[in-house]
Amino acid sequence: MQTITVQELLARYDKPVPRYTSYPTVPFWKESLDVNGWKDAFGKAFREHNEKEGISLYLHLPFCESLCTYCGCNKKITTNHGVESEYLEVLLKEWRIYRDLIGEAPIIRELHLGGGTPTFFQPDNLRKLLEEIYKDSIIHPAHEFSFEGHPNNTTREHLDTLYDLGFRRVSYGVQDNDPDVQRIINRLQPLENVRRAVDQAREAGYNSVNFDLIYGLPLQTIDKMKKTIETSLSMHPDRIAFYSYAHVPWTSRGQRLFDENDLPSADLKLDLLKLGRELFTTAGYFDIGMDHFARPEDDLSLAWKEGRLHRNFMGYTTQRTALLLGLGVSSISDSGTAFAQNEKTLHDYYERIAAGELPVFRGYLLDKEDRSFRRYILDISCRGEVEFKEEDLETLRTYSFPELEKLEADGLLHWNQKGLKVTPLGRLFIRNICAAFDLHMARGRNGAESQKFSKAI
Ligand SMILES: C[S@@+](CC[C@H](N)C(=O)[O-])C[C@H]1O[C@@H](n2cnc3c(N)ncnc32)[C@H](O)[C@@H]1O
Ligand code: SF4
Repeated sequence: MQTITVQELLARYDKPVPRYTSYPTVPFWKESLDVNGWKDAFGKAFREHNEKEGISLYLHLPFCESLCTYCGCNKKITTNHGVESEYLEVLLKEWRIYRDLIGEAPIIRELHLGGGTPTFFQPDNLRKLLEEIYKDSIIHPAHEFSFEGHPNNTTREHLDTLYDLGFRRVSYGVQDNDPDVQRIINRLQPLENVRRAVDQAREAGYNSVNFDLIYGLPLQTIDKMKKTIETSLSMHPDRIAFYSYAHVPWTSRGQRLFDENDLPSADLKLDLLKLGRELFTTAGYFDIGMDHFARPEDDLSLAWKEGRLHRNFMGYTTQRTALLLGLGVSSISDSGTAFAQNEKTLHDYYERIAAGELPVFRGYLLDKEDRSFRRYILDISCRGEVEFKEEDLETLRTYSFPELEKLEADGLLHWNQKGLKVTPLGRLFIRNICAAFDLHMARGRNGAESQKFSKAI
C-alpha cells in the first residue's frame, strides 16, 4: 500500500469546514428566531443548571482604535472614547432584561470579555460594568474569568482593576512580531509592548497569559514565522492559539485592503502550520487540537487528558457549563438546546434594547437529532472519541459511516458500529472529522454553505 505523507493529507483536507464552536453551525440558523421559544429554552436551562454548575457569561466589547486589515471579528473602529458610556449603559439594560427573565441570582462560573478590544475601555468603566453585574449575581467559588487584551493598550491599571474583579487569565493578540507583516496588516505593535504587557500581567498576579498567533497572514515567510514563534516562546505563554488566517473578504471587508497576491500560497501556509506545531511541541506544549497548544501542566492539557474539556463559542474551556449567556452587539448565547445571536450592528442593537426587546435576530432551536449529533461533534473535539447511540445508527449509516471509512483509510481514526477514536495523526484534522457528523452540511439544506466557511488549514 502506498503511504501518504502528512503534507499530502494536509493538502487533501484543506477544504472549507466550520470550526464547530456550535452545531448546527451559524449558516444553518434561522433568521427569524422564535423569541418565545428562545426565552423558554433559556429559562429552562437556567433552572436546570444554575444551581448545579453555574453559568458562563460572555460580554462583547466591540470598539478598537484602528483597523487590523485581516480581522474577522465584529468590531467598530473609533478613536472617540465618548462611545464607552452609552455602550455599557445599553449592555446593562440587556443584562437587566435577562436578569428579570430568570428572577433569581445567576451563579457566574465563567466570564469572558471579548471583542473588539475590551482594553479600549477605561479601567473605571470596566469596573462599573462588572460591579453592576456582580451586584445581583453570585460568583462561583471555582470561577474562571478572562479577557482579551491588546498589547498596545493594556495598562497596568487595566490589569489591576480586572484582577481585583476576579480575573486571572489574559489573552493577548500577538498575531505576528515581524515589522513588515505588521505594516501590511496595519497593526504596528512593537515587541516591547508585548513584553511589557506580559511582565505586567505576571506582576499583577495573573496565573495564565495566553497568546493568539496567526499563520497565513500576508508577507509571512518561514523565516519570519520562526522568529515570531521564537520571540513569543521566550515570553513563556501558558497557552497559545495558533490560528489559521481565515480569509473571508465577503464578510470582512478590511481584508480587501491588502493585495491577495501577498498572501502565502497554500503550500507555504501548510509549511507555516507544520513549523508552528513542530516548534510548539518541541518547546513542550501539548497539542490540544483545533489550533490550541498549552503547557502540559496547564488545566487545558489536564482537562483533555482527563476527558473533561468543553468547547463553546469562546473556544476550548475547562468549565463544563451548559448555559452561556452572551451580552452585547453580535454576541451569541447557547442554552444547550438553543442558540441565539444578537443584532450585529450597533444601530440595530441599540434600537432593539431601547424598545425593551431581547436584541436577538437569529438562532436555532435544536431537535433531538441535532442534540445527539452535537454531542458527537463535541466529543470528537474535546475527547477524541465517541460512542454511538443505537437510535442514531440508521442516520449514521447514511451520512457518517461512508465518511469514516475514508478518514480511517487515511489513518485519521479507528471506528466500528459502536464508536470511534481519533488517532494522534487525526488530531490535526479534527474539523474534518467533525464534518462527518454535520448532517446539515451533508443534506445541503443551505446550498451556499460551503462558501461561507474558511478553509480547514
Ligand atoms: C477579538 S480579537 C483579539 C483581541 C484584541 N482585539 C487584539 O486584537 O489583540 C480575537 C482574536 O481573533 C483572531 N483573529 C481575528 N481575525 C482573524 C482571522 N481573519 N483569521 C484568524 N484569526 C483571526 C486574532 O488572533 C485575535 O487575537
Ligand atoms: S484584531 Fe483586535 S484590534 Fe484588530 S481590528 Fe480585530 S478586534 Fe480590533
